[in-house]
Amino acid sequence: MRAATSRSLRERIQSQLADLKMPGALEALDEILSRIDGGQLAGAATIDALLQAQITLRNNRRLQAAMRSSRLPAIKTLDEFDFTFQPSIKREQIESLHQLGFIERKENVIFLGPPGVGKTHLALSLAVATAQSGRRIYYGSLGDLVTSLEEAQTAGRLVHRLKTLTHPSLLIVDEIGYLPISRNGAMLFFQLMSRRYEHAATILTSNKGFEDWGAIFGDDVMAGALIDRLLHHCHIVNIRGNSYRIRDHRDIWPSLTSSDEPPSPPKRRTKPRKEAVTT
Ligand SMILES: Nc1ncnc2c1ncn2[C@@H]1O[C@H](COP(=O)(O)OP(=O)(O)OP(=O)(O)O)[C@@H](O)[C@H]1O
Ligand SMILES: [Mg+2]
Repeated sequence: MRAATSRSLRERIQSQLADLKMPGALEALDEILSRIDGGQLAGAATIDALLQAQITLRNNRRLQAAMRSSRLPAIKTLDEFDFTFQPSIKREQIESLHQLGFIERKENVIFLGPPGVGKTHLALSLAVATAQSGRRIYYGSLGDLVTSLEEAQTAGRLVHRLKTLTHPSLLIVDEIGYLPISRNGAMLFFQLMSRRYEHAATILTSNKGFEDWGAIFGDDVMAGALIDRLLHHCHIVNIRGNSYRIRDHRDIWPSLTSSDEPPSPPKRRTKPRKEAVTT
């Protein structure tokens, strides 16, 4: 057993961490010092543990702040995602997206697939990672976003609302395809996506293939122009599989899910980008 850290040294480190405003490291200090004294931690690993404690606290604070302002409905993480349940998903692609290069490059991610296959879960886990990196995020279902744009238009504040929704580094547009939207609402959403195009990253989820987006937006031409912009710099994650929600009811899978008929991949001239696989 090593000599225990002296009381004066402990107090000196405590006051230095307080002075540097590192409450996460300060809180972890006692535990780290006992691990050092007990011989379980030594050398550079000590510095790593101390800094990691501070970074964890900072990231949690960033996430809490984002939860208040971004309307994120829940916290989901990649660690909680069971890839074995959804073999059509390429794990490397999802892990690579979590490196957040797509945010830097202002690219889009589109999750397609039937209900319950993890589209929102993965969109939220990317949003959590983005918020923890200190970037601004905003979440809405297509219906909610369109309603907020329509309300702003009625109140004569459309330009302001469009600016607000263009600003975040990441916007999540969830549930495209479940509820119909008005033609005016579709036009407002098109304006928003045009503003974000090559300006900031957007994640979209849909249970419908692109060939059905004309019906969702009530206009084939506008839907085509929207898809054209979205797919120019885009990662498509096409999930084919069964709903995780009803994983314990295998007997009714065939009747409730359309795993044999996945949404069609895009028919379009521009090739979607593939996220570089990081090893
Ligand atoms: N592979 C998985 N591993 C762990 N949890 C999962 C997985 N897939 C989905 N879930 C969980 O199942 C629930 C439904 O998933 P999610 O909301 O992501 O589905 P969805 O594809 O968005 O469905 P919908 O089209 O109905 O909105 C969530 O609680 C999610 O966390
Ligand atoms: Mg969903």
